Amino acid sequence: MTQAPVNVTVTGAAGQIGYALLFRIASGQLLGPDTPVKLRLLEIPQAVKAAEGTAMELEDGAFPLLAGTDIFDDPKQAFSGANVALLVGARPRTKGMERGDLLEANGGIFKPQGEAINAGAAEDIKVLVVGNPANTNALIAQSNAPDVPAERFTAMTRLDHNRAAAQLAKKLGVSVGDIKKLTIWGNHSATQYPDLFHAEVAGKNAAEAVNDQKWLEDEFIPTVAKRGAAIIEARGASSAASAASAAIDHVYTWVNGTEAGNWTSMAVPSDGSYGVPEGIISSFPVTTANGKYEIVQGLEIDEFSRGKIDASVQELVEERDAVRKLGLV
Ligand code: NAD
Ligand code: LMR
Repeated sequence: MTQAPVNVTVTGAAGQIGYALLFRIASGQLLGPDTPVKLRLLEIPQAVKAAEGTAMELEDGAFPLLAGTDIFDDPKQAFSGANVALLVGARPRTKGMERGDLLEANGGIFKPQGEAINAGAAEDIKVLVVGNPANTNALIAQSNAPDVPAERFTAMTRLDHNRAAAQLAKKLGVSVGDIKKLTIWGNHSATQYPDLFHAEVAGKNAAEAVNDQKWLEDEFIPTVAKRGAAIIEARGASSAASAASAAIDHVYTWVNGTEAGNWTSMAVPSDGSYGVPEGIISSFPVTTANGKYEIVQGLEIDEFSRGKIDASVQELVEERDAVRKLGLV
C-alpha cells in the first residue's frame, strides 16, 4: 500500500443497504484494487451499537485495503476529511405520511449533512445520495454546502439504469454487457424515463432491435420505473443488495471513467441541458473521465421522449418548490 487511504463516509451504515455496501467498499470495489480506504460510518445514536457490530465484522473480514473504521453519531465529525460520501440513511415514508411530510423529515437529515460537508469535507469530496427521495435530498444537501462545487453532489439512478439493462437484455436474449448508451432521465421515482432510443445492442440501435413500441411503452418502461415497488412487494423490504451494487457502480464509474463508446446515468445538477431547469438534480446520460462527469450533448429527443422527460422533470420542479417553501434550499 503506497497511497494514503481515501476517507469514505457512509450514512445509514447500520441499515440494510449499509450492510451490503460496506464489505464491498472494504474489498476495493468502490475505488479499485489499489486504493486503500478508511471508513467513517454515521448513524443515529440508537443505531450506533449495531454499526459497531458491523465494524467488528469488517475487522473480521481482514480486508487488506481497509485502513480502519470509525463510527460517529455527529455529522460534523463523520464528514470531516471525507473524500467520498455515500448518503444512504434517510427517513422512510411511514403510514399516513404525505410527500410534503417526507420531504420535511428528510430536510432534517440532509440539511445538517450538507452543512457538515461544507464545513469539513476534503477539497475533492464526491457525494452520492441514495436515501429517498434521492434527487431532492441531494438538492437539499447541495444547497446547504455553498462552498463545495455544486457538481460534486449527485443522486443515484444507476440502479434504474442497471434494471433497464437487465430487462432489455432479457427481452433480446443478449448479455447485459452487449448493451451500451442506455439512459435514465429525470427522477428516481415512478416518473423516471428509461430511454432505449439512443441505446445500442451489439452496435445496433436498441429500439430498432426491439421493434415493439407496445412492449416498450406497456412493459419495459413501467417494469423499470416500478421495479422498486415490485421488490418491496416481493421481499417485504426495499431493494438492498442491488441498491448497494448500483452505488458501487456509480462511484466506481465516476472515479475510474466510462469506457469509450458508452455512457452511464447519473442524477446531477442540471446546467440547462435538454431543457431541464438549471440546478435541478435530474438524471442524464453522462460520460466520466479523470474523476469528472460531463452530460452527453446533442442527442435528438423525439416527441415521445420529450413528453416523458418533461413529466419527470416537472415532478422534480415540484419537489424543489416544496423544499424551497420549507426553507431547506
Ligand atoms: P434502512 O431503514 O434499512 O436503513 C437506513 C439507516 O439509516 C438506518 O440504520 C437508520 O438508523 C439510518 N439513519 C436514519 N437517519 C439517519 C441520519 N440522520 N444519519 C445517519 N443515519 C441515519 O434503509 P435501507 O434499506 O438501507 O435504505 C436506505 C435508503 O435508500 C432509503 O431511503 C431507501 O428508500 C433508499 N433507496 C434508494 C434507492 C435508489 O436507487 N436511489 C434504492 C433503494 C433504496
Ligand atoms: C428502489 O428503487 O428500489 C427504491 O428506491 C424503492 C424505495 O422506495 O426504497
